[in-house]
Amino acid sequence: MARVVVTRRLPEGGVDPLLAAGHDVAENEGDVAFSQPELCAAAADADAMVCLLTDRVDAEVLAAGAGRLRVVANVAVGHDNIDVAAATERGVAVCNTPGVLDETTADLAFLLILAASRLAGDAERDVRAGRWPGWGILQYLGRDVHGATLGLVGFGRIGQAVARRASGFGMNVVHHTRRDTGLPGYVATLDELLAASDVVSLHVPLTPATHHLLDADRLARLRPTAVLVNTARGPVVDEEALAEALESGRLFAAGLDVYEREPEVHPRLLAAPRTVLLPHIGSASQATRTRMARVACEGVVAVLRGDQPPNLVSAGSSTSRGDGS
Ligand code: DGY
Repeated sequence: MARVVVTRRLPEGGVDPLLAAGHDVAENEGDVAFSQPELCAAAADADAMVCLLTDRVDAEVLAAGAGRLRVVANVAVGHDNIDVAAATERGVAVCNTPGVLDETTADLAFLLILAASRLAGDAERDVRAGRWPGWGILQYLGRDVHGATLGLVGFGRIGQAVARRASGFGMNVVHHTRRDTGLPGYVATLDELLAASDVVSLHVPLTPATHHLLDADRLARLRPTAVLVNTARGPVVDEEALAEALESGRLFAAGLDVYEREPEVHPRLLAAPRTVLLPHIGSASQATRTRMARVACEGVVAVLRGDQPPNLVSAGSSTSRGDGS
């Protein structure tokens, strides 16, 4: 029996795979992330850790777990909160939750495409604040989604799920990835895609190469009538530059679910016009969050058994140990 620490409360039934495998599960019953010292202490006392994207599993945390910790499973598909290189160096396997959140996240990306294009955020805020003077033919004149060109930056599972929705809405869909997908709608350069799109939706992981991928220069390549949607990771966009583009009217609208310094939101974005802001809820349906928790826990069970799970980001030595301990 291995000791598995779960760093923050999970949806009901989320840890069932760990319990079914007979592991000793130490759950943080609170819905507040551990501090770094608490995370280090947790790592020092565990064979496995199930963590969330609010946990920074850095070299220090991994060092605290040295000698015992065998696997870290993130309840998210993104894993930029984990120092995967440091984990690999220490022989600690890293798992995530690919596949189970694509449709739910694509639903939310499409919600933002519609809401930002049709200025639903500004309109809703006015209704609630009693600022709506009654119907007017010049009010809240948004951009049509049907017939518009959607440019997808990144064309993995979530990007493709957004493309399916967009086709149903009568959009023309193009995509850009670093490697040619060979699929219809592929655009060879990001700049070309930005210039050709009415709506741009981001679906790339956060890596050193995608940090501020949309900086002031790239934002300037967007049409002044364009809408930008980000459900990927906040730092993919330079928020200061985005706020400036919205304020000056060089960009029509933005729909954001992720931010550079969560939970902080750039004050200029909070005040920016034609902007819909959501609190990182891309995968937030009851069913999907529960599946994510289970997939992460299943990864832990497999690694502790000595098997290679399908949701392995990087293998530590534990996955080839095969000792079932
Ligand atoms: C992820 O999985 O990376 C999302 O941001 C949270 O669901």
